Amino acid sequence: MVKKYSFSNPIETDAVVKDIAETEWKDGVFRKEGNSFHYTLRPGEIIYGLGENVRGMNKRGWRYVSECADNPNHCEHTSSLYGAHNFIMVGDGVQKTCGLFVDTPGRVTFDAGYTDIDELCITMEDGNYKLYLIEGASYPDVVKEFRELIGRSYIAPRWAFGYGQSRWSYNTADEVREVAAEYKKRNIPIDSIYLDIDYMERYKDFTINRDTFADFEDLVKEMKEQKIHLVPIIDGGVKKEDGYDVYEEGKEKGYFCKDEDGEDFVIGVWPGKCCFPDMLNDEAREWFGDKYRILIDKGIDGFWNDMNEPAIFYSEKRLKKVFDKMEEYKTANLDVNTFFEMTDLIGTISNNPEDYASFYHNYKGKRYRHDKVHNLFGYYMTRSAAEAFERYVPEKRILLFSRASYIGMHRSGGIWQGDNMAWWSHLKMNVKMMPSLNMCGFLYTGADVGGFGADTTEDLVLRWLEFAVFTPLLRNHSARGTRRQEVYRFSHVQDFADVIGVRYQILPYIYSEYMKAALRNTMMFSPLSFIYEGDALAGQVEDQLLIGENVMIAPVCEQNASGRVVYFPERMKQLIFRKGTVAEGIVYEKGFAYVDMPMGSVNIFLREGYLFPVAKGGKCVEDVDFEDLTLYSFGEEIKPYEYYLDDGETKDFNIESHVRMLSC
Ligand code: GLC
Repeated sequence: MVKKYSFSNPIETDAVVKDIAETEWKDGVFRKEGNSFHYTLRPGEIIYGLGENVRGMNKRGWRYVSECADNPNHCEHTSSLYGAHNFIMVGDGVQKTCGLFVDTPGRVTFDAGYTDIDELCITMEDGNYKLYLIEGASYPDVVKEFRELIGRSYIAPRWAFGYGQSRWSYNTADEVREVAAEYKKRNIPIDSIYLDIDYMERYKDFTINRDTFADFEDLVKEMKEQKIHLVPIIDGGVKKEDGYDVYEEGKEKGYFCKDEDGEDFVIGVWPGKCCFPDMLNDEAREWFGDKYRILIDKGIDGFWNDMNEPAIFYSEKRLKKVFDKMEEYKTANLDVNTFFEMTDLIGTISNNPEDYASFYHNYKGKRYRHDKVHNLFGYYMTRSAAEAFERYVPEKRILLFSRASYIGMHRSGGIWQGDNMAWWSHLKMNVKMMPSLNMCGFLYTGADVGGFGADTTEDLVLRWLEFAVFTPLLRNHSARGTRRQEVYRFSHVQDFADVIGVRYQILPYIYSEYMKAALRNTMMFSPLSFIYEGDALAGQVEDQLLIGENVMIAPVCEQNASGRVVYFPERMKQLIFRKGTVAEGIVYEKGFAYVDMPMGSVNIFLREGYLFPVAKGGKCVEDVDFEDLTLYSFGEEIKPYEYYLDDGETKDFNIESHVRMLSC
């Protein structure tokens, strides 16, 4: 059951799609004190939710802040990542479970046993907000009800479930051709190559650098012939440059965010000085969205929206302040205090809260200071594109995912999990984040495989892929200046080809589970406790996941390990994908066991009484035969599998007509 509460004058976010009558607040399991809600945690109680954030699936024991943040150096002590997902769940997960969604575009703090280890305290910075309280029996029940409240998740085209290669940046059309050729030459499956900011003319949205991508249209065509989709990036800031049509139009029509004095607010991002289109303003949003057509008309059918927290390198005002102060330091004898004061000052140039509090939006007919609606920018940028696709190519699914997000955006596009690092701990974080994101409606998601920042290693990329072959977005991406990590650059290339190949063998299941999760508002990736209710050990497992109902995975996230200890919440059979073949491994009894999982193998644990469909594979999604399946099963009585299959391109999502039962 969902109850809705409204406090003072909430700002409408369009996160919720259901109309629900308001109830007057009365303290229950949550106690209201000022702008805070308190909940007393019982020993061992789990806290789930919060979508994209650091630490565990169980969020207990840290303080998280919902505030979209551009933070490529995030660690355990970080509080905010790129998305702001204000949904949290508490309770026993068996009889009485409670979900809470705070709908406000401003800052919210979730103190999950940080200040007081026995208490969850949720605090809104602003006193105007809506709150939805969802009571159900189990975690899956509450998630389902919440997801019905926020509407159906974005559905990506099926080709976007193939493997993608990205890098900041492929600098020329020939470099893109070379990447494609290297993959093809070695028979490594691939479906997409990503274009980062260097395809643009001096980092200007919706332009092409004709010096380096002179024959862009031909390149798109050539790649299409090779069944490779090119996916360009679009940034949140528009370069302030006389004569640049997007800037000139935005300026003339008054579509940019304004400063205190009503002038276009100017900040620095990749191209230098930029203005932010007011994504929250209906007209500006429609205008910005229409620009995507420029690339669609060139044959593009996928985009990634970036820097839309929005990221600010500097504002002119801030820079001046810092430069003036630097003059003083120039002649000072810098001691322990002044030296660190100086270095700290430099750190305040980017993404400064004062800058976020000094520009304005025109949102639903009212003027709002940016910090009050901060978490909506990336959401509305992505919505601008999604709405334009709906107007322009209504029949066709277009790939779209964003860096920043708020709940509600899950209907318009997916997300990637922002700039991570080539760290084993970030692989682990990727595993833990998948169910948290699913709870909040984000299904089309994945992390930068191999790690974005820092130099990666061959084993990390391979182990990461062994996990990522299960995630809807499967993209190898890395930052400028780091070690190259296209898989053909490593020593054991065949291992990579084999592991990526597994994605194409298991795609019928992955796609079917994704579609069912989207159409039925259920989880694709679940923590073990969602199925093994009441199993206290299952509730403590942070690095194993269920995919759909039928299988469990236990990725290896430690360097130099050739296997790992796995918790089996019931009897399961191991399926080993290696060198293009599938072998049925041993049956593990309920309990703990060490499982050998050598590098280059993908391991799936099949539940007793369930089956798992496997295709022959292919070199791209189009090649995969979704009908010619081998059904692996384990046990005496096998539950038929509800297999969802559609054309993968159009929007005919009717579940009844696309589901059929597969039985052994
Ligand atoms: C941001 C993005 C990253 C991209 C880079 C250059 O850091 O998160 O993915 O490569 O910008 O565009």
